[in-house]
Amino acid sequence: MPESSPSAQTRAHGVASVLLDEATIQGRIAELAAEMDEWYRPAPGQHPVPGGGEVPLLVGVLTGAVTFLTDLMRAMTVPLEIEFMAVSSYGASTQSSGVVRILKDLNHEISGRRIVVVEDIIDTGLTLQYLLDLLERRAPADIKVVALLRKHDKPGAVPVSVDLVGFDIPDEFVVGYGLDYAGHYRNLPYVAILNPAVFDEPSPTHEE
Ligand code: PRP
Repeated sequence: MPESSPSAQTRAHGVASVLLDEATIQGRIAELAAEMDEWYRPAPGQHPVPGGGEVPLLVGVLTGAVTFLTDLMRAMTVPLEIEFMAVSSYGASTQSSGVVRILKDLNHEISGRRIVVVEDIIDTGLTLQYLLDLLERRAPADIKVVALLRKHDKPGAVPVSVDLVGFDIPDEFVVGYGLDYAGHYRNLPYVAILNPAVFDEPSPTHEE
């Protein structure tokens, strides 16, 4: 366990192993950001105006993508804007159901905008498929998708087009770096696998 202080050990209660440590995540984010800068680099002498069609709009999918989006945008150097959507899939806390409801929509029109959907994880792909269908109907100039994590061997996953992936990971329940179990673990600075015994412990009453 990479935790030294007592409070950090408490934060990591139930962590079985670290899948991606902080340095590995940050190193990969620097690579992703450099590639994204190339997509959206303004022509020499061009100064994009706020809300202009050439300015990428990063759309973070709450809540898990917050950590990734905030690190990613600070690693990028082109002018950009951000917004958030909140969606929730019905069903048990460790599985996507495929039925998605919008809890918070975008604040502005995206017609003619260059959109980047920023996800923390693609598991079954159902959330992303739903979101892309929704956003495409709003006539953006284009949509790209960047995900920190993708489960490469998820049974029954739907094929969705992703432009950049940080890490392809096995089909394990992962937490940390924005990802939660029952609302906890989002503030771990690394991605970890939980000890299965955690799932048998009493959890907070709110539904995820
Ligand atoms: C997670 C994640 C994705 C979705 C991926 O969100 O942030 O949005 O699940 O799963 P899928 O590919 O199987 O659809 P979650 O519903 O756990 O909400 P949260 O980000 O608020 O924790």
